[in-house]
Amino acid sequence: MANITCKALSKQYDGGAPVLHPLDLQIDEGEFVVLLGPSGCGKSTMLRMIAGLEEISGGDLMIGDAVVNAVPARERNVAMVFQNYALYPHMSVYDNIAFGLRRLHTPKDEIDRRVREVAAMLNLDALLERKPRAMSGGQQQRAAIARAMIKTPAVFLFDEPLSNLDAKLRAQLRTDIKRLHQRLKTTTVYVTHDQLEAMTLADRVILMRGGRIEQEGTPTELYRRPRTLFAAGFIGTPAMNFIDGVVERSGEALSVRVKGEAWPLHGPRFGRLQDAQAVRLAIRPNYVGLTEGASPPGALALRGTVELVEVLGAEALVTVECAGERLAALVPSARLPAPGASVTLEFGMQDLHVFDTKTEENLALELQYDTADPPLRTPAARPMAKAGVHQGAI
Ligand SMILES: Nc1ncnc2c1ncn2[C@@H]1O[C@H](COP(=O)(O)OP(=O)(O)OP(=O)(O)O)[C@@H](O)[C@H]1O
Ligand SMILES: [Mg+2]
Repeated sequence: MANITCKALSKQYDGGAPVLHPLDLQIDEGEFVVLLGPSGCGKSTMLRMIAGLEEISGGDLMIGDAVVNAVPARERNVAMVFQNYALYPHMSVYDNIAFGLRRLHTPKDEIDRRVREVAAMLNLDALLERKPRAMSGGQQQRAAIARAMIKTPAVFLFDEPLSNLDAKLRAQLRTDIKRLHQRLKTTTVYVTHDQLEAMTLADRVILMRGGRIEQEGTPTELYRRPRTLFAAGFIGTPAMNFIDGVVERSGEALSVRVKGEAWPLHGPRFGRLQDAQAVRLAIRPNYVGLTEGASPPGALALRGTVELVEVLGAEALVTVECAGERLAALVPSARLPAPGASVTLEFGMQDLHVFDTKTEENLALELQYDTADPPLRTPAARPMAKAGVHQGAI
């Protein structure tokens, strides 16, 4: 096991535009870090530089205490699993897994013991004599992970290892990888553009955009405290709602004008908002309340017409058209409005993020909640509104 340190690490290909801008990153020993971001943001490049498969254009990369910029891949004691698991087709699973150790001339009985040990961890015991073509994609990918694991590397690198699999297998293998890490505690860097994968696997998520780190933190931090509009939109399913507004401040009184409504805001969290400032408000669908009746005076609410109802199981995603804007509410599916119904959407001030439209920065990040750890809200457990369909998180 080892820690990884990047100091002003950068990359550009053949004098072209920078693919990674100088970047500082510290990954602790035993940590599971996920590099998350849209296609082309530089995730694979970063991973391949750590692996030693890509030349470093600037800065330093350290694994453990040693600068490894010039150390070839095979001497870095890292193991990498790719999206396209390249197993040797003519070899059995056993031979595929054993391959790396045989090359090191490890004694036969030790190879056998270790192959069976990793095979057991990954549920491959019954498949050891199979050839890759006679196995499902998920089984092949597990074999590829086993083959990487057997070398007991200091660092584990994964590049979108699950993206070729169907949703169910992906979820299953995700759990396997998580369990494996809990057991082995090998320092792991995992690349994905799937935010759910990142949220479920990571100790820490590094959200990247255009070759830079946009935000890093625990999955919960990124979910609760997105620093930018981009982070807010990228993290969380169903995706964040966005509404444009203009701040109105006169003396002590503060409100934001949204679609003709004046929503009163108060509390130190909104101290940075300035009169006439253009803002984008963001709120997650699971914190949006839905009622048939009118909202009480002073509530943060909008009237609209139900456009779409998508039942997901215990909850449903209801899309409501409010003066030209589509907003979604995630509500219990026990009692649902019909498409075309007039409804009121209600928003909790404490759940509202406010971004500067120009800088895209979160203006109300601090003191998001009174305590560091707000109580968990389970929408299904909320009481139903008297007059309406569903009581929001207010
Ligand atoms: N060999 C190369 N030569 C020139 N440019 C490259 C090369 N490899 C990658 N790039 C460019 O570097 C940028 C980052 O690529 P990278 O593969 O790291 O993205 P990524 O975040 O892994 O994306 P994806 O999610 O699509 O895999 C892209 O703009 C890409 O076109
Ligand atoms: Mg990639």
